[in-house]
Amino acid sequence: MENIALKQLQSRTSIREFTGERVSDEDLELILRTAQRAPSSINAQQVSLIYTRDKEKIEKIAQFAGGQKQVATADVFVAVVIDFNRTNVAAEALGKKQIVEQSAEGILMGAVDAGIMLNHLQSAAEALGYGTTAIGGIRANSDKIVELFALPKRTFVAVGSTIGVPSQKAKEAPLKPRVPFESFAMQDAYDSKKVEEGAYAYNKEFKEFRDKTGSGTLPTYFEITANAYEKSYFRKTGTVLEEQGFRFKDA
Ligand SMILES: Cc1cc2nc3c(=O)[nH]c(=O)nc-3n(C[C@H](O)[C@H](O)[C@H](O)COP(=O)(O)O)c2cc1C
Repeated sequence: MENIALKQLQSRTSIREFTGERVSDEDLELILRTAQRAPSSINAQQVSLIYTRDKEKIEKIAQFAGGQKQVATADVFVAVVIDFNRTNVAAEALGKKQIVEQSAEGILMGAVDAGIMLNHLQSAAEALGYGTTAIGGIRANSDKIVELFALPKRTFVAVGSTIGVPSQKAKEAPLKPRVPFESFAMQDAYDSKKVEEGAYAYNKEFKEFRDKTGSGTLPTYFEITANAYEKSYFRKTGTVLEEQGFRFKDA
């Protein structure tokens, strides 16, 4: 028998074209409440969501994310906030000093929890027929995001998501291929050879996919990845994290 949950997960794709129709209030609440069921490290719940339907705010977010036009056309934007401000309430209540946000472990924990939250949120939205795209681009201007959402110390927006009604074209677009399965899921130990061969095979497959889907002038997997990772991607992340009270060290 076909499994609906699996089918949804296997056919998911990022949606960057929306019809402009509204995400109903009831659906949005259901999506946010479902997202809240995501697990969190030690159940400390160090992730919060800030959602907005405000068109002006969403336009600003699109600009801050490096001028991503599709973001501005979404009906809703949800920011996933690493929130050690909440956990600090516990520390203060007991007269303790929280330092978790001043550690590499804390930043990693917050990022992992935020990623899990993002996935839960997007899966819930997709289950209701909406389209989403993760927007990490907002970290290009984390300082402006802090201001826009009035974020207190010990908080940081790790990522966000658009939500909207997908256009028919976007819904029917072919799924982006992935690296060969055996170079991704490895039994018992890491296998560098498989990973390298898989990357080469994928580079070829991805180019063919791009050619077939009419975007052949766009770069290959190697070009996209190597160009992006030649720098440290978003360049203010460390500065803004520090301004927000985070540190990356073993505290
Ligand atoms: C953490 C994260 C951040 C992302 N940021 C962006 C972004 O800023 N803009 C965008 O258009 N897509 C963004 N994406 C979507 C990826 O480009 C997309 O998942 C990838 O190309 C695979 O395509 P698919 O999701 O359609 O399978 C992001 C994905 C993740 C997981």
